[in-house]
Amino acid sequence: MLRNGPDTFGWVTILLHWTIAILIAGLLVLGYIMTRPDIDPMLQFDLFQWHKSFGFTALGLCIIRVLWWLASRHPVAVAGLSVREKWASFAVHILILCLTLAVPFTGWALASTSTLDIPSFYFNLVVIPHLPLDKSTVAETLWTTAHAILAYGLAALVLLHAAAALHHHFIRHDAVLVRMLRSRRS
Ligand code: HEM
Ligand code: HEM
Repeated sequence: MLRNGPDTFGWVTILLHWTIAILIAGLLVLGYIMTRPDIDPMLQFDLFQWHKSFGFTALGLCIIRVLWWLASRHPVAVAGLSVREKWASFAVHILILCLTLAVPFTGWALASTSTLDIPSFYFNLVVIPHLPLDKSTVAETLWTTAHAILAYGLAALVLLHAAAALHHHFIRHDAVLVRMLRSRRS
């Protein structure tokens, strides 16, 4: 089943979910490592370019993910969840979806406003143009701070989200995690 069913996730949702999850987890770790103050400048330059390339890939996939989410039906919650739990998980999912767009956009904005004006090479294949924003140290600092706060905020939410999924699987023994791992007929 490619599309979501009334109480199941389809393969498109599942594949997008896990590909994006792996990409974002890697970008969070890479972003943290490459901004350590004692890192070698040459290595830092390379890591920044890798971070930007994977970051643009994440942005593209997250746009597709949000469009797919808007166009898809949303499977009903598994049995046994209280109304409060349903609303809490829905709110966290919406917040995560918004942050998966906001984080790469602020990254793109900080690269675009930098007075160093370093081009963003997409895996050394093409140059992704800067956003039409004025370059200044103030703007770069602002976008850098926004990028870091939103990225670590996303990390915290994802940890909460993953902990909830594991809690459902190992403590409550319900189908919440399993239905995001494989698609089935309803
Ligand atoms: C960066 C990492 C992640 C992001 C951005 C993310 C995002 C999302 C989003 C937006 C949904 C809602 C899907 C929908 O309604 O169509 C979702 C559902 C889900 N996620 Fe994640 N997720 C991440 C990591 C994880 C991890 C690590 C786990 C498990 C350990 C997990 C388990 C689940 C499960 C089980 C659901 C289905 C919940 C339900 O049935 O309502 N996710 N995720
Ligand atoms: C979902 C995608 C992304 C995630 C999760 C992410 C995450 C991070 C994290 C955690 C940091 C370290 C923040 C700090 O400790 O100061 C960082 C820094 C950075 N990110 Fe991203 N990022 C993403 C996308 C992007 C994109 C698309 C770009 C540019 C096109 C970008 C450009 C940068 C740059 C240039 C820095 C270094 C900022 C500095 O000079 O301190 N990021 N990112």
